[in-house]
Amino acid sequence: MDLTVAGTRAELAEAMKAREHAGDRVALVPTMGALHEGHRSLIRLAHEHADHVVVSVFVNPLQFGPGEDFSRYPRTFEADLAACAEENVSVVFAPSADDLYLPDRQVGVSAGHMGTIVEGTFRPDHFDGVLTVVLKLFNLVRPDVAVFGQKDAQQLALIRRMVADLNVPVSVVAGPTLREPDGLALSSRNRYLSPEERTTALALSRALREGAAYGTPRDILRAAGAVLDGAARAEPPLVLDYLVLADPATFTDVGDDHRGEAVLAVAARVGTTRLIDNVVIRLRA
Ligand code: PAF
Repeated sequence: MDLTVAGTRAELAEAMKAREHAGDRVALVPTMGALHEGHRSLIRLAHEHADHVVVSVFVNPLQFGPGEDFSRYPRTFEADLAACAEENVSVVFAPSADDLYLPDRQVGVSAGHMGTIVEGTFRPDHFDGVLTVVLKLFNLVRPDVAVFGQKDAQQLALIRRMVADLNVPVSVVAGPTLREPDGLALSSRNRYLSPEERTTALALSRALREGAAYGTPRDILRAAGAVLDGAARAEPPLVLDYLVLADPATFTDVGDDHRGEAVLAVAARVGTTRLIDNVVIRLRA
């Protein structure tokens, strides 16, 4: 299947026309490019749900705060196209910010209270920016299914919330987090890490693993916290932003009486790189 590259909304509309006519099912995998094996697994999952897969590649300025890594975010477009061609993607939508956002734009999506907690405490407005671009992509591509990584667990929960609250006609599918053999979750930002920083960063996944070995919130948080405390004394040190055990749907802290699934989520900085990771745990009665 030939890969069509649409660089504008108009080119995307043209590329989608024939597929919509044929009544084919379309899956969208929204990305910011710098595609790695984790993205490729999401594309493969998307193929299981649709006849055609569309991948968007757009580093969304709206979701980066001042002082964050928007300008240095890795841009590897040629390699991204090659990966999409190998994964039988039908259309890559890679608009410029000027094409996607009107110069006098006024209206966006609010992530509400849920966008201000946990990750939102450290990245104000981030989730408003994510939801705004995701809703625009949904409206432009009109997919039947959209696939997101479990790695961004709060983003995933908020996209599900937006789809429910705003009656967006799309099914959201989540793909599992892929990891390096030593446990580090795959992320486009891993390439920022020096070898020494990478060694310290392994504490994130180690903390989640240690925590997941326990069954009650108190024990889970204590075990994970001990690993992160150790890493805070390493060289280079890990600087913790948060460690939470939260309800996967609302991202509010779970108490000791919570039953069922909870997400153990962590965010930390090593050097100038900020990393997030999480694991879903079934709490014991
Ligand atoms: O997860 C990401 O890469 C981004 O937040 C997304 C969903 C593509 C929106 O820009």
